[in-house]
Amino acid sequence: MVKLTVNGQAREVQADPEKPLLWALREDLAMPGTKFGCGAGLCGACTVLLDGQPVRSCQTPIGSVGESAVTTIEGVAAQPAGPAVLAAWAELDVPQCGYCQAGQIMSASWLLSEMPNPGDEEIDAAMSGNICRCSTYTRIRKAIKAAAA
Ligand code: FES
Repeated sequence: MVKLTVNGQAREVQADPEKPLLWALREDLAMPGTKFGCGAGLCGACTVLLDGQPVRSCQTPIGSVGESAVTTIEGVAAQPAGPAVLAAWAELDVPQCGYCQAGQIMSASWLLSEMPNPGDEEIDAAMSGNICRCSTYTRIRKAIKAAAA
């Protein structure tokens, strides 16, 4: 059994400590908002925050999480920049197919908590690990700027 703190709540997972956090969230904790893309740490679809920092949950064994606070897309509204990011995403209609967007929103929320007013280069650098096959990058950049305003 592994104890986790997810979106401010103490949770217990009956699973091997080596199980990736992505699958513990989806299968054991019934939180399907975090998406499986590549399973290899390459696409960013599975991004969650650990103590406010983005990590790839497909590459994070639950046994390594310890006391760190896990924030998923289901809890992003409680992050400092979360509400502004969610509002900008809706306002600018960012998603196309939508599959990668939970990860994009997690990374954007982290970026704005670290850097309240990022420029284009900073946005591109911070978001470079989140791949979007529909290529919504222009709208993502605009939404981050709108959320920062
Ligand atoms: Fe984790 Fe692609 S599913 S990085």
